[in-house]
Amino acid sequence: MAPPAVPAHRLVPLLGSALETTPAYRGLADALRLLIADGRLPVGTRLPSERDLTAALGVSRTTVSSAYAALRDSGYLQSRRGSGSVTSLPGDATGSRARVAGSALRPGQDLDDADVIDLTCAAMPAPVGTIAAYEAAVAALPHHLGGTGYHPLGLPELREAVAARYTERGLATTPDQVMVTSGALAGIAVATRALLGAGDRVLVENPTYPNAIEAFRRAGARTVPLSVTAEGWDVPTAEATLRQTAPRAAYLVPDFHNPTGALMPEEQRAQLGAALAASHTVAIVDETMVDLAHDARLDLPRPFGAFHARTVTAGGASKSFWGGLRVGWVRAPRDVVASLLAARLTLDLGAPVLEQLAMLHLLDHRDEVLAHRREVIVTNRDAFVGELRKQLPQWRFHVPSGGLCLWVELPEALSTALCVAADRRGLVLAAGPQFGSDGAFERFIRLPFTGLPSERVADAVERLAAAWDEATTRRSTRGTRPPLVA
Ligand SMILES: Cc1ncc(COP(=O)(O)O)c(C=O)c1O
Repeated sequence: MAPPAVPAHRLVPLLGSALETTPAYRGLADALRLLIADGRLPVGTRLPSERDLTAALGVSRTTVSSAYAALRDSGYLQSRRGSGSVTSLPGDATGSRARVAGSALRPGQDLDDADVIDLTCAAMPAPVGTIAAYEAAVAALPHHLGGTGYHPLGLPELREAVAARYTERGLATTPDQVMVTSGALAGIAVATRALLGAGDRVLVENPTYPNAIEAFRRAGARTVPLSVTAEGWDVPTAEATLRQTAPRAAYLVPDFHNPTGALMPEEQRAQLGAALAASHTVAIVDETMVDLAHDARLDLPRPFGAFHARTVTAGGASKSFWGGLRVGWVRAPRDVVASLLAARLTLDLGAPVLEQLAMLHLLDHRDEVLAHRREVIVTNRDAFVGELRKQLPQWRFHVPSGGLCLWVELPEALSTALCVAADRRGLVLAAGPQFGSDGAFERFIRLPFTGLPSERVADAVERLAAAWDEATTRRSTRGTRPPLVA
């Protein structure tokens, strides 16, 4: 079968300002390498012929042929007879710095080199209290060993605890509205399976969490973008888009949105909820970050589900506690839970019992665990913000009131070039366009500020500043060619 191809007119906007570097072939090769490594050009994609790309870019044929040759030499391109130039990864496709799997982010890359700093993942190490949670889980386990261990809807006691927490937050919930999953993303994927079919439209915030976009795309759904900035949501535009496109579902991250950190106020939840109800659109709400307010006194809005009955909410342990638990849940109207269960039964039959018991213990001790976690987040955030302001004063960002990332606006649309230059310095970043559904955000970079002990933050930002210097210097040596990005 012929490999999938990316035509020249689709590839050119993805290249950012790559050609503005000197020599131009190197800029082109670097940009293509990053697109392949972070999955925006999936492995096995046929690139345009040298002739087509030369014409589309308006450069010399030598620029394109030298770039392709450099990629072939470094293992990012293979020439196949009859298939042209096809993207590949050097050596083992799961190897060290590859950020593969469609355009999804791949967390936890187990980098061999201790000197490499990975800022692609917005997550934290396990909090104090995790061992105690597992000890309590082991102590409770004998009570469960007499059964089969299969709980496709989740352990009843955990479903009860999750339901109680929703009720406490202002969304009355009974345990039969909760299904435990292996993480929030699994909940989103199950909801996608249950609710969306090929060709269905799904409204997605732009930017957003890339793995959700990929989950919708893999289900054959068509994404409709809804703009979000660090200032928040543009509700009138959302209302108009819902009226015009009547999508089947809308994926929203209203609580410390990833990557902008925005928090949707109650009035907007009410307006958007009403618009979703009017267009018969199910909300798939991702609450992964909800526990990560930086100030415990912040008055949090009620859950989005309190404003729109047809809401499936996915939450979980990964950001509040630890990604290694792989425990999450979905909360939904009862009739939807039945569909979610049916969709999940051909997938994984339930989450591990021990981890569910550990999660139960953590929920019981959530206030102390989260208080400690908050201190670490704020210390790391302040260290990161301080270094950025010192070393890169021209970068603009809001300090969010929650979450784990800064969404930084760069002075120029050079996110891809920045990532390439950072990679050379042992700093692995996810470029802004990875968070968009349409290749935009070349002017942005997401910086998770919690993945590093605070004593390494200065080093990370030094590498970032040196990479920025390289990206801008290489660009300026080429003169004033207009940026290629739309
Ligand atoms: C917005 C968002 N949703 C979902 C996930 C994945 O959550 P889980 O580990 O619970 O599957 C992440 C992790 O980065 C995230 O940022």
